[in-house]
Amino acid sequence: MKYFSDKNYIYYPNTNIPVNKLGVKNAEEIGELEVQLFLKTYEHFHENLDENIVFNQKYLKDLHKFAFFKLYSWAGKYRDKNISKDSTVFCQAVHLRDQMNGMFLEFEKDCYLKDFRNKPVDEFASKIAYYMCELIALHPFFELNGRTIRLFFDMVAVYNGYEYIDYRDIGDKKDNAFIQASRRCMSGDCNLMKKIILKGLKKGR
Ligand SMILES: Nc1ncnc2c1ncn2[C@@H]1O[C@H](COP(=O)(O)OP(=O)(O)O)[C@@H](O)[C@H]1O
Ligand SMILES: [Mg+2]
Repeated sequence: MKYFSDKNYIYYPNTNIPVNKLGVKNAEEIGELEVQLFLKTYEHFHENLDENIVFNQKYLKDLHKFAFFKLYSWAGKYRDKNISKDSTVFCQAVHLRDQMNGMFLEFEKDCYLKDFRNKPVDEFASKIAYYMCELIALHPFFELNGRTIRLFFDMVAVYNGYEYIDYRDIGDKKDNAFIQASRRCMSGDCNLMKKIILKGLKKGR
């Protein structure tokens, strides 16, 4: 089984398809819907990037909610169940809110990474990789964490004059370089993730 939670109630029985408001039970169809909703979310949040933007917890939740409220009742809400993937156990649900608060307190002290326009790209990549690894290990939502976390840092990148981070080099295998790097994040090692981010960061025109 791909996912195991202490109560696997968000999926239709024996599937990886989350119970959804449209009652879609076809994997391809739900995948396509998620892609379309996500593209709209990129457009919306990109258009609304301005100097006053604050990349706080509300912003992260808003991304998830805007993207998926039409499909999922848990859009924009942190999970209240434990989740593991393969041999990885993510942050226990009971500690999730405290851990998220702690991470975002640190992120706030780092000015939400809003002052990297003129700093070395290497430093920016290190910071993104660090916070990305934290969020990956926390795995705040039931589903769609990977995409939401990448979207979040794409907006941080654009704010600082970069293009969306280019992940094309991670490959298309199930166990691609991003997943391998995510596994390392679980033990606090952000080096693989930093390599991916550094390679994917390009200054915008
Ligand atoms: N074995 C693993 N160990 C650590 N992290 C993992 C593992 N497998 C997946 N992940 C992380 O979880 C993310 C996928 O979470 P998920 O909620 O399914 O998001 P999405 O549906 O957007 O891919 C991946 O992008 C990766 O960061
Ligand atoms: Mg998923």
